[in-house]
Amino acid sequence: MAFSWTNAKRPILALAPMAGYTDTAYRQLIKGIEPRVICFTEFTSADGLVHNSKMTWKQLDFNPNEERPLVAQIFGKRPENFARAAQMIEEMGIDAIDINMGCPAKKVVSSDHGSALLKNPCRAIELVEATVKATKLPVSVKTRIGSEKLDLPWFIQFCKDLESAGVALLSIHGRTAKQMYTGKADWEPIYEVKRHLKIPVIGNGDIKSVADARKKLGNLDGVMVGRGTMGNPWLMAEIAADFYGETYVAPKTFAEKLPTYLRHAELLVEYKGEEHGMKEMRKHFVHLIRGFDGASEARAQVVQISTLEEAKRVLNEVAEKLKDAHVVDTPTTFFKE
Ligand SMILES: Cc1cc2nc3c(=O)[nH]c(=O)nc-3n(C[C@H](O)[C@H](O)[C@H](O)COP(=O)(O)O)c2cc1C
Repeated sequence: MAFSWTNAKRPILALAPMAGYTDTAYRQLIKGIEPRVICFTEFTSADGLVHNSKMTWKQLDFNPNEERPLVAQIFGKRPENFARAAQMIEEMGIDAIDINMGCPAKKVVSSDHGSALLKNPCRAIELVEATVKATKLPVSVKTRIGSEKLDLPWFIQFCKDLESAGVALLSIHGRTAKQMYTGKADWEPIYEVKRHLKIPVIGNGDIKSVADARKKLGNLDGVMVGRGTMGNPWLMAEIAADFYGETYVAPKTFAEKLPTYLRHAELLVEYKGEEHGMKEMRKHFVHLIRGFDGASEARAQVVQISTLEEAKRVLNEVAEKLKDAHVVDTPTTFFKE
């Protein structure tokens, strides 16, 4: 059956798109732990897809048996390229399309992409209309609560216009683009937008624990989690268990967590080759290896790792040193408080 946001299990639990992180390996890792998570790809250039850029296409690599339903996120500014990219994504067998209207990165904004669309609402609507017209897939938008500052009446109207243009779901990060990742995500405007829309709305920003997810869900249709999963892919299963009234016990010790760490490395190597895959894995290891005595020495070792065999040896040595000592859970370094 075709995927639809309306029929998706409530509360929706989504993995946030994170460029440089949520590639097919990361998504398969998360889905392997909690299959009910809905994953978004890293943002992918609509222009790049249309111009057949090999690197852009590579970003949409996915495993059709492990990742469904998968949402491909695209960014850009040209309606005709969004329409063509949407058709290409549909032909690939991906389940849904998301339009990026939130990325605050300088390079993206200076090209009038991402969060720049919050300053050009007419173009934002044109992009949605062109995409919706071109595909049968559900089209969602991921955005922030504003560009420079929050103007709630304006933002509510903007979201209503997106809904009228055919958007099937909105995910909203509770920061303005200007804030980047500073300060705290403000979920109040997200709750308020939800009161004015018929389509589902999911909230995003600063969920690091089950308690955060429970507290922030409010009147929304679901939550989206990004950085909280870095080094802690079990968080999604913990939140799902809480949302759906089940019990889940996450692995605690390094030795218990080790097979998952190595599985991630194997998946990366499978998709990107050993040299590139292990280089990328180093940044994930840095998130995984923290919170215990000797972690900084172990991290210094893992950032040198260049083969899967080496990763197994070094990480097994760490596990052996720690025996079954419990690893203290520390939030990812990505949260700047
Ligand atoms: C490294 C990194 C890459 C990101 N890449 C994207 C992206 O490609 N598309 C997007 O819409 N948001 C992107 N984001 C924003 C996240 O999707 C999310 O909105 C943000 O991190 C707040 O959620 P969190 O507090 O749960 O991490 C990225 C964030 C990070 C940290």
